Amino acid sequence: MKPVYYARPLIGEEEKARVMAVLESGMIAMGPQTAEFQRKFAEYVGVDYAVATNSGTSALHVALLAAGIQPGDKVITTPFTFIATSNSILYCGAVPVFADVDPRTFNIDPESIKRILDAESDVKAILVVHLYGLACEMDPILEMARDRGLVIIEDCAQAHGALYKGKPVGALGDVGVFSFYPTKNMTTGEGGMVVTRSKDIADRALKLINHGRSDRYLHDMLGYNYRMTDIAAAIGLAQLEKLDGFNARRRANARVFNSLLSDVPALVLPCEPDHCYHVYHQYTIRAERRDELKEHLDASGIQTSIVYPISQAKQPLYRSLGLDDAEIPVADSLSSEVLSLPIHPGLTPDELVRVSDAIHSFYGLKS
Ligand SMILES: Cc1ncc(COP(=O)(O)O)c(C=O)c1O
Repeated sequence: MKPVYYARPLIGEEEKARVMAVLESGMIAMGPQTAEFQRKFAEYVGVDYAVATNSGTSALHVALLAAGIQPGDKVITTPFTFIATSNSILYCGAVPVFADVDPRTFNIDPESIKRILDAESDVKAILVVHLYGLACEMDPILEMARDRGLVIIEDCAQAHGALYKGKPVGALGDVGVFSFYPTKNMTTGEGGMVVTRSKDIADRALKLINHGRSDRYLHDMLGYNYRMTDIAAAIGLAQLEKLDGFNARRRANARVFNSLLSDVPALVLPCEPDHCYHVYHQYTIRAERRDELKEHLDASGIQTSIVYPISQAKQPLYRSLGLDDAEIPVADSLSSEVLSLPIHPGLTPDELVRVSDAIHSFYGLKS
């Protein structure tokens, strides 16, 4: 039987036609498609500026630099994320300070941020991650940042189209970052985007992605080659038009799982607070006997993923840097409980039932 895939990019005729047009145009590096993608993405998020990059990781690096993060600065972030988040802080020579997360939402816990701010005097910024497609609890975080003059950077790599109190993520803080890796809610192959309302941040980001260039062959700051190609931007333009539809299907799949799995006492299902619009990049459950359940699903031809099996603070790299002493009991315990089920928009109703049946059979329940 065909496996139930964990993630599948949905590439259609529109993407192919747009890419062919770029290839035939002879302008395949950064050009008019990238400019249009930036304009349309900024409009989608509701900000004035967007700068396209060649990955979400490079977008994070540029966002931090453009927001003024400097060597030695402390940046509070979550340890329960992909390593690119905290690595981007290291790229700047800055220091990640890990706050714990909320066990219900998996997102950074404002109370834990407050405890760090009360203990540490020289924090410069907070880098939040809207994990799995759910916005962080932003109001208390924004208030703390306002009171103490901190920069807020949003890692929205997993949350294209997610809303907090009706407002799109990426537009809540000073600067936001998206990834267009193929497993994400929309893709460009590899790619990323920096979004901001600040002209200063946008101008700096534009220079940073292009070797710090102020004019042709004139460079007044250290920059990088982080440019997006027009081939990638063409895919992005087609995907952006489909994004709301993709998200609606992810949400519909999540509703089906919420109903099919509601009678399994060994599971904690994902939550969606009333004031949030979850876009279910991941449908992540907390499961008793998680590792055995994963093996059972693998054997049943159902792909799943442990996102994330180890908190970033406990990575060998972070241990070697002496950054592993954070008090993060919730993040550490989640690592041994979480399991992400297939939720992508290409799943069929039968596949959703197959996943649910296999979970019921593992726990000895009737579906
Ligand atoms: C939370 C988070 N931040 C950053 C990234 C980095 O994005 P990319 O893989 O496009 O470099 C990812 C994606 O993998 C991610 O999930």
